[in-house]
Amino acid sequence: MRRSLFRMSATLSATIKAAYPFLETLGITDVNAGCYDGTDWRASGPIVDAISPITNTAIGPKVQLATPADVQRCLAAMQTAKKQWMLTPAPKRGEIVRQIGDELRHYLDPLGQLLAIEVGKIFAEGKGEVQEFVDICDFATGLSRQIPGQVLPSERPGHFMMESWHPLGAIGIIAAFNFPVAVPGWNAAISMVCGNTQIWKSAPTTNLCAIATQRIITRVLERNHLPGSIATFVAGGADVGEAIVDAPSLPLISFTGSTHVGRIVNEKCARRFGRALLELGGNNAIVVMGDADVEMAIRSVLFGAVGTAGQRCTTCRRVYVHRSIYDAFISRLTAIYKCLKVGNPLSPGVLVGPLHTLAACDAFDAAVAKAKAEGGKVLVGGTRFTAPGLGPNYVQPTIIEVPAESPCTKEEVFVPILYAMKFDTLDEAIHYNNNVSQGLSSALFSLNVRHAMTWTSAVGSDCGIVNVNCPTNGAEIGGAFGGEKATGGGRESGSDSWKQYCRRATTTMNYSTELPLAQGIDFNV
Ligand code: UN1
Repeated sequence: MRRSLFRMSATLSATIKAAYPFLETLGITDVNAGCYDGTDWRASGPIVDAISPITNTAIGPKVQLATPADVQRCLAAMQTAKKQWMLTPAPKRGEIVRQIGDELRHYLDPLGQLLAIEVGKIFAEGKGEVQEFVDICDFATGLSRQIPGQVLPSERPGHFMMESWHPLGAIGIIAAFNFPVAVPGWNAAISMVCGNTQIWKSAPTTNLCAIATQRIITRVLERNHLPGSIATFVAGGADVGEAIVDAPSLPLISFTGSTHVGRIVNEKCARRFGRALLELGGNNAIVVMGDADVEMAIRSVLFGAVGTAGQRCTTCRRVYVHRSIYDAFISRLTAIYKCLKVGNPLSPGVLVGPLHTLAACDAFDAAVAKAKAEGGKVLVGGTRFTAPGLGPNYVQPTIIEVPAESPCTKEEVFVPILYAMKFDTLDEAIHYNNNVSQGLSSALFSLNVRHAMTWTSAVGSDCGIVNVNCPTNGAEIGGAFGGEKATGGGRESGSDSWKQYCRRATTTMNYSTELPLAQGIDFNV
């Protein structure tokens, strides 16, 4: 059985091993099949390089991509495992997810390192991302013993009414490049305890992270003598994604990515009466009141705007600072920006790694030019960053002062550019915060309870995440994660997000000898 994991090539060449010893630990080989259909690692698409944004060159191991035909093979295999998995008691499914979490714990470091070289995030954040999957496994394990239902009062005598939550059976998960482990992980863990089989697809640029993660999941299923097709996997491009989105056997597609592609996924799913669970763009603001704990606000803006080099959907892209403290706040923040170490994400002390692709660097240049054309003043950064040994994917973390409501502040560009703006009243700041098409995350810094409560009230921030005195990013798994408006409306991860992965049945049971009808209808002949 284990042999099948290494069907294409069981070796990793000595040079790659020497450069990246953790790849072997993770089961990465010279050529990796980008498809696991539940039995075999077998793909039939083109073979591509895995690229590291650190140097913008090939890491070494190659990946054979999947094709739509490979997707069909996975879908068919999922159908055969579906009933068995749905009938497995939820706490037993939870035990499997617990083991996945435990297995992941052994790979925090190597998987964190792989995230650094393939995504470009710093090691601390890479390891944190794996921890996020571990955490959701713990959460899901607990959930598996308490998936609730309701008993509701019936208006009819001798009748019992209840709601139960059942698995959807099979779901599709399409992941983004920036969280190739945690986000598909939090979908998978919850979906699995809910009783679904799944197919997931990695972003085309993070296939090694995905393959390493899938190997861990597969190993646990094998060890427990369960069908591997409970969790299948494909690497590939848009054609593979489309085959998943269009599959009638998948009542739910969980998609993380751009608003543009999310809209297409949403429309395609709706056409076939499937559901789309969407985590799309964010354009998140931090509002700093005059009565804020300034040091705390500065540290939060820093992590919010610069963490993951501005490539989180929860990244802080706009900061609104009360006029009374604006100058002092921005000059201190700017000074700290100047000390930030940009460079190889595996090097100690580096807080800002590369952008994921060169196209993102072009988007950075274009965004800086656009802000300038709109009257923006670059306070720090604004240009690319170069240093010996690094590739061309680096930019300077940037702050641009712009007039509030500038068109450039309405768009999400996945780069570390922070727009700084002034305001006078909380109402004005709430208006600015809300007056964008996206609605993922937001944060207010204030020590005034009136400000904090107004911010979190119905007429405060309109986002899915409404924080006070902590950053827009770095959400814990225990809460529901997602946002409103162009962010797509989905909720994943903690709280009652599990409901997204289930279908609800309302049952009315008559245990009387009569047949009274609801609404008092008399239907006797
Ligand atoms: C994402 O950027 O797609 O809140 C997810 C955060 C992380 C998840 C980010 N826990 O920043």
